Amino acid sequence: MSEGRITGLDLHLPLSGTRPARSLEDAIRSLVSTGALPVGARLPAARALAADLGIARNTVADVYARLTAEGWLEARVGAGTWVAASPAAVVPVAGRPAAPPPFDLRGGLVDASDFAYASWSAHARQALAELPGTAFSYPPAAGTAALRQSLAVYVARTRGVAVGTDDLVVGTGFGDLLSLVCRALRERGARRIAVEEYGHDRHRRIIAAAGLEAVPIAVDGDGAVVDGLEDLDAAAALLTPAHQFPTGVPLSAARRRAVVEWARRSGAFVLEDDYDGEFRYDRRSIGALQALAPDRVVYLGTASKALAPAVGLAWAVVPTALWQDVLAQREAGGAAAAGIHQHILARFIDSFAYDRAVRRRRAEFRARRELLERLLAERVPSASLHGLAAGLQCLVRLPEGVAEADVVDAAARRGVAVLGLSEYRFGAAEDGEPVGIVVGYGAPTPARAERALELFVEAVATAAE
Ligand SMILES: Cc1ncc(COP(=O)(O)O)c(C=O)c1O
Repeated sequence: MSEGRITGLDLHLPLSGTRPARSLEDAIRSLVSTGALPVGARLPAARALAADLGIARNTVADVYARLTAEGWLEARVGAGTWVAASPAAVVPVAGRPAAPPPFDLRGGLVDASDFAYASWSAHARQALAELPGTAFSYPPAAGTAALRQSLAVYVARTRGVAVGTDDLVVGTGFGDLLSLVCRALRERGARRIAVEEYGHDRHRRIIAAAGLEAVPIAVDGDGAVVDGLEDLDAAAALLTPAHQFPTGVPLSAARRRAVVEWARRSGAFVLEDDYDGEFRYDRRSIGALQALAPDRVVYLGTASKALAPAVGLAWAVVPTALWQDVLAQREAGGAAAAGIHQHILARFIDSFAYDRAVRRRRAEFRARRELLERLLAERVPSASLHGLAAGLQCLVRLPEGVAEADVVDAAARRGVAVLGLSEYRFGAAEDGEPVGIVVGYGAPTPARAERALELFVEAVATAAE
């Protein structure tokens, strides 16, 4: 080990004698992510720092270049190198001011910068050139006829959903449609909705804002434990059957049948959140639960994962008995998805550009998941990866005795944002409940994904030492 101080900034930089580049890179990253090197701080010239540390100038220049490419630093010829000023998101570290997390591995996110720009803009240009003037008026509350037609074909072909164009309602996102459906249920007299005990707090807040009480049901290795529904007096159950969020387990065939029987018996509805149903990495594709009971299941899909959240479009396939009530809530809310975006998405789907976008991401995410599996097996064999090979995230179960918070902290020190399973828990965990870290491998850019996963595994290994 040699040690050095950045001239003028008085920073402690421990360097490994055998791997000076890697350790310098890690040290700078850690100083930025803890806020010790604040946004805007200017780094010394590569030559000066190299002299200070007793290492080659090129080593420092390469580290600066790599950290600049990853977004930690910014550089301009003649002006020097400084800590980047535009973090995309923030991880708070132990009460300090939020610092940028250059490696974001939180669950449920996709790398929005990897948007299919060229294809989307070609479809947008074409739509704007060819659409009749009437297409620029108020869109129908349920969505444009063209998009509902395209979606009906798409969800039937890719997810086996039983659907006609009249069953669809287009919204601005999953949350928007969840809110409409909950308000419709509330209007019909519903009081309670069952939700999986692990999920997004944001969704539980949407449910509460619609005037319903969310009540948790357990999740185990077969998905949501639906037997408990009988005693809950719930008017609906919100489930993620394809790939439970965030534990990753699919709902077993027996439970799929059981939940549909419960809905039929009790006049309840199942809300099927199919947020990442297109992202399966093995050959067995399990279709949507909705096909088992189109009269009892509301199917919900979103363009946020295959395209980007900024597209602002999602869709619900609604049972006939509920459709009018959902539409009434859409109208009462006074807002609808932008007509122009709906026209563009319809063309995008019809030309199979949507399928191509899904396939491209699927290949990328599969490779990331396999890399994580390999790195974990090599470095921390006592940790294990759980959840079906699908979707945008998986669950890493920690070796016995290792605390979630220690891994989250060790990751944050390396600039990696992750959340423990307990962050997604509805209510307090019971004693002996498994702990783990939810790793969202969909969020980093392709250039940063490998390093993000390496740093995460290093954090698990450190916490497990
Ligand atoms: C489980 C789950 N459902 C639904 C969504 C929301 O999709 P949207 O972006 O359409 O609101 C997400 C996104 O994070 C998710 O993780």
